[in-house]
Amino acid sequence: MIKVSSRIITVDRTPVFMGQDALLAVDKFLQSMHLGKEGIYILADKNTRQHCLPLLQKHSGLLAGARVLDIDGGEDSKSLLTAERLWNDLLVSGAGRESLLVNLGGGVVSDLGGFVAAGYKRGISYINIPTTLLAQCDAAIGGKTSVNMGKLKNQVGFFHAARAVFIHPGFLNTLPEDQLRSGFAEIIKSALTGDAGLWHRLLKHPVNELLVLPVDHPLRQDLLTGAIRFKIGVAMKDYREKNLRKVLNFGHTIGHALETWSLMNSGRPLLHGEAVAAGMICAAWLSQQKSGLSIACAEEIKSYISAGFTRYPIDQSCKSALIDLMKYDKKSCNGLHRFTLLAGPGFPVINVVCLEPEISGAIDFYNR
Ligand SMILES: NC(=O)c1ccc[n+]([C@@H]2O[C@H](COP(=O)([O-])OP(=O)(O)OC[C@H]3O[C@@H](n4cnc5c(N)ncnc54)[C@H](O)[C@@H]3O)[C@@H](O)[C@H]2O)c1
Repeated sequence: MIKVSSRIITVDRTPVFMGQDALLAVDKFLQSMHLGKEGIYILADKNTRQHCLPLLQKHSGLLAGARVLDIDGGEDSKSLLTAERLWNDLLVSGAGRESLLVNLGGGVVSDLGGFVAAGYKRGISYINIPTTLLAQCDAAIGGKTSVNMGKLKNQVGFFHAARAVFIHPGFLNTLPEDQLRSGFAEIIKSALTGDAGLWHRLLKHPVNELLVLPVDHPLRQDLLTGAIRFKIGVAMKDYREKNLRKVLNFGHTIGHALETWSLMNSGRPLLHGEAVAAGMICAAWLSQQKSGLSIACAEEIKSYISAGFTRYPIDQSCKSALIDLMKYDKKSCNGLHRFTLLAGPGFPVINVVCLEPEISGAIDFYNR
């Protein structure tokens, strides 16, 4: 059951506080948890420690004295090695089963921090305070936690729900432009898979225009709230991703492979949202071939995304490598590549098997 009161959204089991007032709710919520003496630990990366922690601690007296655990940040930090180091830090500082971890950062911090919380003493509580657009509209919500294995994305993880999520859009004021752009990819995904109305509103506003709007602009709030509502609704209906939740994977089958490939091969690896943006163009072509999306709509998706995201060149050797990397996709089964596609905006179709020549055609469509 989702209740909306002014700009704060709450969901019954995991409350999601959203809006410029969200940080004011932190202390009240922590008091309601009746935490023991074992303490509160904040996980931050070097950027969120500098840009976000002072504001958080200004609003929360309870977090002002909390111990801060640091990571460097970036995809390489989302590893078992970093998790082990953090488990050790918690141990030596005396954290127990009643301790709370506060994840302050983007999707890397919430995925890794959730993973650490899930494993420590067989599971401690945590809350997410997302500070990137991508984490605010997607990664910090829904209880999926993970680390990468080498450069392979999200290969080990747990479902372990946050006790609460606090979304303060003001954090985005210090986010670099490429990171903000990356976040818009997940908003586009939510619109295409869950809300045709949101997609049609997006079409009127190119990504480059959205990037420069103030965080409290009604359109920015409308897009963020729409994506958050969609994510919450899907995660509540299918928490363990048996069926419906696979819709959130639109663009991720080729997207994750491309992200991994670029982490392995590029001096400036693609950001998660940049890779998903490319993956959505490929998935639009497959949707037109396999699940009834009109050619006009596939072209419209390609042109909207191409105007907002730089094209990443995929040559023949990269293409073969991507198809090979797709075997690590969680939806892949018995050597078959399964995709989430579209019948139309707002009408996703899950578990569509696509053959290698079809995937190759999708990459050609992206390259054209
Ligand atoms: N669990 C899920 O459901 C889910 C969903 C989508 C994505 N993800 C994961 O999320 C990760 C990507 O997350 P991301 O895009 O947030 O990346 P990120 O966490 O790496 O953050 C991006 C960069 O922005 C910096 N940063 C964060 N907040 C800032 C702020 N307010 N001001 C200045 N700098 C700031 C960070 O230090 C980092 O350098 C990927 O690993 C992806 O797999 C998880």
